Amino acid sequence: MTSLSKSKLWEKMQEYYNNIGPEAWQEEVVPLQISSNKNLARAYANIILAQINDWHMHNPQTNEPFYIIEIGAGHGKFSYYVLKCLQEFFPNFNLPLNSIKFIVTDVAEKNIEMCEQHPAFKDFINQGVVDFAIFNAMDDKEIKLRHSGQTIKQGDFTKPIFMLSNYLFDSLAHDAFQVRDKKLHEVQIKIDSDADWEEYFAKAKFSYEYLPVNTDYYEDPVLNQILTSYEKDLDDNTFMIPIGGIDCVNELKKFTSAHLVLLLADKGHANIALFDELNEPDITEHGSVSLMVNFDALKRYFLACKGEAMLMANTSVDFQVACYCTEPKHPIPHTKHAFMQELSGASPQDIVDLCYYNDEVSDFYKNLDQMLAILNLTMWDPNIFHDFSEMILDKIEEEDISIEQDAALLHGMQIVWDYFFKLEKTADLPFALGSIYYALDEYELAIKFYKLSIDEFGINADNLYNLAITYQAMDDDPTARDYAKQTLNLDPEYTAATDLLAELA
Ligand SMILES: C[S@@+](CC[C@H](N)C(=O)[O-])C[C@H]1O[C@@H](n2cnc3c(N)ncnc32)[C@H](O)[C@@H]1O
Repeated sequence: MTSLSKSKLWEKMQEYYNNIGPEAWQEEVVPLQISSNKNLARAYANIILAQINDWHMHNPQTNEPFYIIEIGAGHGKFSYYVLKCLQEFFPNFNLPLNSIKFIVTDVAEKNIEMCEQHPAFKDFINQGVVDFAIFNAMDDKEIKLRHSGQTIKQGDFTKPIFMLSNYLFDSLAHDAFQVRDKKLHEVQIKIDSDADWEEYFAKAKFSYEYLPVNTDYYEDPVLNQILTSYEKDLDDNTFMIPIGGIDCVNELKKFTSAHLVLLLADKGHANIALFDELNEPDITEHGSVSLMVNFDALKRYFLACKGEAMLMANTSVDFQVACYCTEPKHPIPHTKHAFMQELSGASPQDIVDLCYYNDEVSDFYKNLDQMLAILNLTMWDPNIFHDFSEMILDKIEEEDISIEQDAALLHGMQIVWDYFFKLEKTADLPFALGSIYYALDEYELAIKFYKLSIDEFGINADNLYNLAITYQAMDDDPTARDYAKQTLNLDPEYTAATDLLAELA
């Protein structure tokens, strides 16, 4: 038996991510929509911008960039969305994009390799705005950037730094405790699994022991203060201390003489009334494993260190977003206001709940106007648009589409494509766009996107056949015939292509 934070769980977790690499998301093994979407990226970008404005109210503009460091970025899609939003917002404040440096980091070499070769980052790399690094949040004290060769280390900066971490703290070391009859106990763990990395967690058996401990458990007096307050406040509850995340914040904050702003989104509890009862710690398996992050303990930690803690108005959902700040030397009203504006209404969980039901796309929208409204609410998130595209097509066929709806779709589809970040193997966004352009009689655009579908996701009978019918609609029968024949060469059973050839003959 050992403390949870000292168990091999975390090392095995890193082994899992190191081995699986980007396949975790390309094959949709690890979920990402709730933590990597346009709404959340816009929220983070607005909070970052507000923090920069707060800084400039009290400090002169200098050439030193603001460093935005995403830890555990994994696939890089969220980094890209945040960069795109900042690029959109900065001109409103006369800020050049090179006033920031965005560092995409992860523990897994394969992930960082994929990110730095991803075409979406090319322009940002050329502008010197983005760089990449391998960084282990539980070990490393410096960050060596792969493009510039710069090493970020203690005392390098004088401006606030931003630490972004989505779905990461749930993968970093935790300690587990219980308060039983007003007495603190540590939950110790034993893990048995003889499987290799792929099935290690699926086959793992966890056993636990509950040992009485004193509230001077840690070397850090602030953590002990939190244990003391929980011993007093809780009645027969289990709680976690996200020690790995806290240690990482304490290392990163040394990079600057100013403060650190942590933007955190994760599964977790922000309300002690919702802490589990005296159950075993909630370790959820999904290829790897994850734990519920204690947002309340983080709030207590930052506040005890004279920092700031901004939490969502809705503390009852399982997916929480927060902005924590180590001790700032000046007030930060813009940051607080931006957080409130972005996260006091619909949360990322609300958007997912509106769009999906039991992991399937919600099919309760009655007409195209309702679907347009949902897409507006998601900021035309490319993945959600992709998942809704079949239903949009059905509605276009069922309804007499108005000029306004047509214009709204054409406008939204431009935004969707602007934010395209190729990742999931089955999310052929260009094909979805091509199909809707075809349904809207925008044949040139349909052809452009069906061809992009071939370039990005490979040739298949569907994109070939759809090219055939689009050329037919444009009265280009020879080309239509050619594509119909290519379809049948690939799939002789594709009866729609046989029928089309007969019709064209
Ligand atoms: C659940 S994924 C989250 C990826 C992405 N941030 C998102 O929201 O979809 C966890 C990520 O954290 C990385 N990771 C795990 N342990 C880490 C550690 N000790 N230091 C840095 N990254 C780590 C994994 O490689 C993986 O990319």
